[in-house]
Amino acid sequence: MKITLIGFMGSGKTTVAKELSQALSLPQVDLDQLIEDRAGLSIPAYFQQFGEERFRLLEQELLVEALTGDGILSTGGGTPVQAANQAIFQSHTQPIIFLDASNATIQDRLTADGLAGRPLFEKLGLEGIINLKHNRQACYESLASDVITVDGKTPQEIAQEIINKI
Ligand code: S3P
Repeated sequence: MKITLIGFMGSGKTTVAKELSQALSLPQVDLDQLIEDRAGLSIPAYFQQFGEERFRLLEQELLVEALTGDGILSTGGGTPVQAANQAIFQSHTQPIIFLDASNATIQDRLTADGLAGRPLFEKLGLEGIINLKHNRQACYESLASDVITVDGKTPQEIAQEIINKI
């Protein structure tokens, strides 16, 4: 089984994927990590050197690869928004879980993490990022087989909720 986690940056996809991976003894793949490993660059360095458009092409190529086989896949916040990726997700018949976080949760987490590692946060600022979140919400909802609200829950609780649903 391949369980895919989608949601906005800061919604906890990577952390929850680790929990699920341990609980279900399935390998974990993080799409951003895969991109960094293949490119030999951090995400911010890749954005700076090649721009977002090239980043999205690499992301799409590696998404196809990452969706094969068993495991837990955490995606980037923008992965489900790309038209080509939507077609890929729509033909994928395994669970796609949307981790839905409130604006306040995202705001708190991104502010606590700072700008490091998130070029879009750096570019758009807090207000722009909350607008982006709003614009992406319908897309996350439409692709998800299940939606889990994450506010006030621990990664373990969220992982357990996902296990109970699938
Ligand atoms: C992005 C989210 C990031 C990363 C890149 C673009 C986005 O992943 O893929 O910076 O478009 O929302 P996280 O959601 O893991 O931060």
